[in-house]
Amino acid sequence: MRRYLIAGNWKMNKTARETKSFFEELSSHLTFPTQSEILICPPFTSIPEAHRHLQGSIVLGAQNVHAKASGAFTGEISLSMLTEWNVAYVIVGHSERRTLFGETDACIHEKIKTVLQGRLKPILCVGETLEERQSKQGAFAVIERELANGLKDISAEDMRAVTIAYEPIWAIGTGETATPEIAQEMHHFIRQWLNAHCNTAVAEQVRLLYGGSLKPSNAKELLSKQDIDGGLIGGAALEAKSFAELIRIAEELSH
Ligand code: 13P
Repeated sequence: MRRYLIAGNWKMNKTARETKSFFEELSSHLTFPTQSEILICPPFTSIPEAHRHLQGSIVLGAQNVHAKASGAFTGEISLSMLTEWNVAYVIVGHSERRTLFGETDACIHEKIKTVLQGRLKPILCVGETLEERQSKQGAFAVIERELANGLKDISAEDMRAVTIAYEPIWAIGTGETATPEIAQEMHHFIRQWLNAHCNTAVAEQVRLLYGGSLKPSNAKELLSKQDIDGGLIGGAALEAKSFAELIRIAEELSH
């Protein structure tokens, strides 16, 4: 059975001081370790503070990385800068990186390879816009293209370190959530893709996260779907209370 991964993507929120308060409050709500794996992806400047608060089942992630190891890339962060702080996961290809910062499938593929070569775990984000969902081509074609391009030539062995987050763009930060049925349908499609392009063992092992207005009021329905193995959470991960509630729901479903 796959272990739940409850991941908070803080985006451009929380200073180091606010990070400290978050963790203090979080441990007042929960006892660690939990059965689920808990991941926090703070902004880069809050990573050292978050690192001080890691315990039990909590791990640290980054929201982005540069594909190159070092060099003249003003404003960028390399993988070795992250590994010094025990960063375990890196989010790659978030829709905000794709649309606001012009990241292409090719650039995302380079980053995935860098993360895997550095023995960290990439979380590849895929998702369609509302127009794409409603178009003749449909949502599945978009997701298939993002998977094929992002994961091109990745060996089955390396695929075991990959997590995939399905984040329909129309559900991110909008309060609009994919119904559990829509989310499950896409997660099932992704698992079938893994089965066809890697093998059954990989398809069974790789965790598929749902992201897009996931919150305590809808988490139980979504997380109880067969192919949904956790969440990549924005807004509801910023408050320790609601994030703790999401973890509690995953814990209940783990039993
Ligand atoms: P929200 O949970 O705020 O919709 O954000 C989802 C997301 O983009 C996580 O990466």
